[in-house]
Order: sequence, then C-alpha cells, then structure tokens
Amino acid sequence: MTIDWDTLREAARDVMLRAYAPYSGFPVGAAAYADDGRLLVGCNVENAAYGVTLCAECSLVSALITGGGGRLVAFACVNRDGTAIMPCGRCRQLLWEHGGPELLVDTPRGILPMSDVLPQAFGPEDLAVREGE
Ligand code: THU
Repeated sequence: MTIDWDTLREAARDVMLRAYAPYSGFPVGAAAYADDGRLLVGCNVENAAYGVTLCAECSLVSALITGGGGRLVAFACVNRDGTAIMPCGRCRQLLWEHGGPELLVDTPRGILPMSDVLPQAFGPEDLAVREGE
C-alpha cells in the first residue's frame, strides 16, 4: 500500500482544529491509515479533571476499533502550527498495540518505524509467557 503522507498530514491538521483543549491551549490532531486503506483521525479532548484528558491518539485508536478494527500502517500527529510532534509515551504504547514495529510514524526527524519510536517495547506477545500457558 502506497502511503499518501501529504493527505495524512492534511487530515491531521484539519482534525486538530476540532480539538477540545481549553486547559492546555495545545490542540493536537492525529491521522492514520489502516491496512484496509481507511483514513482515521483523532483530536485531544481535555477535561476539568486534567488527568482524564484523552490524547488525540486515544480517539484515533477508538475510531480504528469502532470502525471495524484492523492494523495501523502509517501515522501522523501535529500541533497547532501543523508541525509534526512525537506521540507521548502512553500513546506510543497504544500505537504499538495496534500497529506493531512496522507502523510508520511521521516524526520531526522524518518517517520512522515504531520499532525506532518505542524500542524494546512491551507488547501482546510478552503476555504469552504467563505461567501455566
Ligand atoms: N497530547 C496529545 O493529544 N497527544 C500526544 O501524544 C501528546 C499530548 C495532548 C494532551 C493534552 O491535551 C495536550 O496535548 C498537552 O499535553
């Protein structure tokens, strides 16, 4: 599958405008392609109880699952200026779960695989080593 990075970045910038970020003033937009070609988007949704805040990646992953599931193959995330930002640590773990090591991420240092973005990740396969299984 050929990745249209310009379309992906534009979708991230568009959805960033819908962010609900009254507390941080830091709107974030995220966009991704699923392996069936679906274009998924998400924005951050903050809360008066700050810790309840949903990152843009959270709503994107929810869109992946509620839209029928699948695997993420390419991901972009932008700030207010439309500039690429790195996913936070928690969201790297979310992306790992649904994209794995080969998911391509648009980073400030160029397009990198998740295996570079979250080295030595803990993932679903680690749970296969549970005692008695
Ligand atoms: N934020 C995201 O949406 N994704 C990230 O990966 C980094 C941080 C949001 C959370 C919060 O609403 C705002 O950016 C400032 O931290």
